[in-house]
Amino acid sequence: MIMKLLQEEIIKNGKVLSENVLKVDTFLNHQIDPVLMQAIGNEFAARYKDAGITKILTIESSGIAPSMFAGLTLGVPVVFARKRKSLTLSDNLFTSKVHSFTKGETNDISVSKDFISKEDTVLIIDDFLANGQAALGLLEILDQAEANTAGVGIVIEKGFQPGGKLIRDKGIRVDSLANIKSLANGKVEFFEEETV
Ligand code: G4P
Ligand code: NA
Ligand code: NA
Repeated sequence: MIMKLLQEEIIKNGKVLSENVLKVDTFLNHQIDPVLMQAIGNEFAARYKDAGITKILTIESSGIAPSMFAGLTLGVPVVFARKRKSLTLSDNLFTSKVHSFTKGETNDISVSKDFISKEDTVLIIDDFLANGQAALGLLEILDQAEANTAGVGIVIEKGFQPGGKLIRDKGIRVDSLANIKSLANGKVEFFEEETV
């Protein structure tokens, strides 16, 4: 149901900027639709309700909105990795490097050691899965923390880019609520087989 709604929203308001980039500023990346985000968060929560989740881990900024609703429903805290270096250099941080192919830059991301530990079972959530570099960075932080990884929940996967395969090939569960097959010719085409 939410997957159908999300696809309809993408068709209606998404703008295909190129064969690789979909702009979704009306509900996810700039203006945020709380009703849609709540439905998305609830869907992640439902899929992981028996996974023993203790924390949700996302990355600022666009992963935070869907994560909040999943955290609210699961009753667990939401931690977001920071992209900027903290003003006070600290050894109390897990850090990893995230290379953005889209932006042509590499950034450090960090999470305080206070908020993820080996006692945690963590669901990663993010807005987009493209080349998978952000998700890999978050997975590396969970490795450093020796936390358990339950899976990765993605609002919009671009299945024609390599990130999804990269993460799944590591044996990690990936749940994408929309999976885009192609953005060719200014048109959004979805993989349909996963629709529930
Ligand atoms: P990757 O992590 O999967 O390797 O992605 P990549 O480096 O290509 O993406 C860099 C940023 O662009 C990320 O957001 C990612 O969510 C976003 N992104 C990737 N593909 C698309 C797309 O087709 N459409 C939109 N709207 N975003 C895309 P970010 O820089 O971390 O920004 P934000 O979370 O603050 O929004
Ligand atoms: Na993001
Ligand atoms: Na983004």
